[in-house]
Amino acid sequence: MLPEKKQILVVDDEPNLRKVLAAQLARDGYDVHTAEDGEQALALLRDHHIDLVITDLRMPRIDGMELLRQAVEIDDTLPVVMITAHGTVDNAVEALKTGAFDFITKPFDQSEVRAIVRKALRTRDLAGHEATRQPSGAPQADARYGIIGMSPGILAIYDVIARVADTPTTVLISGESGTGKELVARALHENSSRRDKPFIKVNCAAIPRDLMESELFGYERGAFTGAVTSKPGRFELASGGTLFLDEIGSIPVEMQVKLLRALQESEFERVGGIKTLRVDVRLVAATNSDLKREIAQGAFREDLYYRLNVVPIRLPSLRERKEDIEPLVTHFLKKFNARLKKSVKSVHPEAAALLARYPWPGNIRELENVMERAILFSDRDVVLAQDLPLDVRQDSEPPPGPALSQDTDASDGLKEQVKAAMSRLERHLIVRALEQTGGNVTHAARLLKISRKGLQLKMKELSLRERDDRSDPP
Ligand SMILES: Nc1ncnc2c1ncn2[C@@H]1O[C@H](COP(=O)(O)OP(=O)(O)OP(=O)(O)O)[C@@H](O)[C@H]1O
Ligand SMILES: [Mg+2]
Repeated sequence: MLPEKKQILVVDDEPNLRKVLAAQLARDGYDVHTAEDGEQALALLRDHHIDLVITDLRMPRIDGMELLRQAVEIDDTLPVVMITAHGTVDNAVEALKTGAFDFITKPFDQSEVRAIVRKALRTRDLAGHEATRQPSGAPQADARYGIIGMSPGILAIYDVIARVADTPTTVLISGESGTGKELVARALHENSSRRDKPFIKVNCAAIPRDLMESELFGYERGAFTGAVTSKPGRFELASGGTLFLDEIGSIPVEMQVKLLRALQESEFERVGGIKTLRVDVRLVAATNSDLKREIAQGAFREDLYYRLNVVPIRLPSLRERKEDIEPLVTHFLKKFNARLKKSVKSVHPEAAALLARYPWPGNIRELENVMERAILFSDRDVVLAQDLPLDVRQDSEPPPGPALSQDTDASDGLKEQVKAAMSRLERHLIVRALEQTGGNVTHAARLLKISRKGLQLKMKELSLRERDDRSDPP
């Protein structure tokens, strides 16, 4: 049963502000919950049904941005409105980019607050939330841990997460780019008793080779030129929590020895330090390269590999689990409707067929981007084939070959056949571009990366008339 009144959560470390805002919202007929920081707020979100969060940006420990990120993970259609001080536009813009619904400035303007709250709650209803909401705490039918999917490959992963999340065991996650490795790493952390401690991510590919050691283990004052103070490394920062080493395959070999020792003995020294430090850290590593091959090439140490690979999780590519495309599409529809304030309700069967056929080299990240773009540009309540990028529309189509042609004689030589096929392809691409731009030649030319003049010439050559641009190729 859904509560009758809409439930609003107000988060601010400043008691007076909390009271003022809560009183106004209660007067307007909402049920109001309050929390004094991000941690309290998250606890409330996990246990209660909340329709809208209004949070201060600057708070101790978990701040508004982090709260936003984690709240969306718990419930991705939940609108979050940020409170910002007057004149801190940068923060507000950053928050909007991260997916905040809107922001209100201090001191509050009652009618502004009222309008934003109404709009946010309406958007949430439009996102289909009422219809699809599960009783609080129950897993969605096709998702667990914020990971969408019902394919055998994903079910096996839910199972491993459930088994190993709350253990100290090291996990090595592998999979192509965009398959959800970071999502799984966070799920392991969130479902362990370490969830209230830090989750520290290190992208090993992004750290220059000679800074790697001080990044991981920290340094003492005077350890090298420029070390004017001492600084803890990521291992220390993750103390009691989880350290996520992303792209572990790009750690230089000499660092691999040090990492192995830190893992095996649970101890290390800061650069330039003599004191041996011990920390309790759970390690999760991820890679999109084949570490076995790196080992064969001498780029990755075998002993470190076995130390990391205690529990391997291999994420299947989206190609290997096409049955998950549909639930993912539904999930992204909801997510981006809420985020982009749109109300696109469904995907046209023709577009759905294209999405199902495309090989998704960028996996779920690519599907997510395609859906975001489609919803952003859609001006109807359904995603049409023409809202999808050319890549998706083309790679899904059978290649234009002699078998499809009516204008090529099989007795033609290879050269002639290729030429005819090329001009069919060219014509096809041009017609598609024109369709996509509603017949606007200038825009179509831009899409095709040729000049307007060039496109007009081509169209003439292929006997495509400018006003006849929506007809199908013969
Ligand atoms: N099963 C899933 N359900 C819902 N969203 C997903 C799923 N898998 C991935 N995503 C989303 O796809 C995007 C890419 O996921 P993530 O960053 O975890 O991939 P990755 O494997 O770490 O990629 P890379 O190797 O490029 O770092 C994220 O926005 C993530 O939320
Ligand atoms: Mg990643």
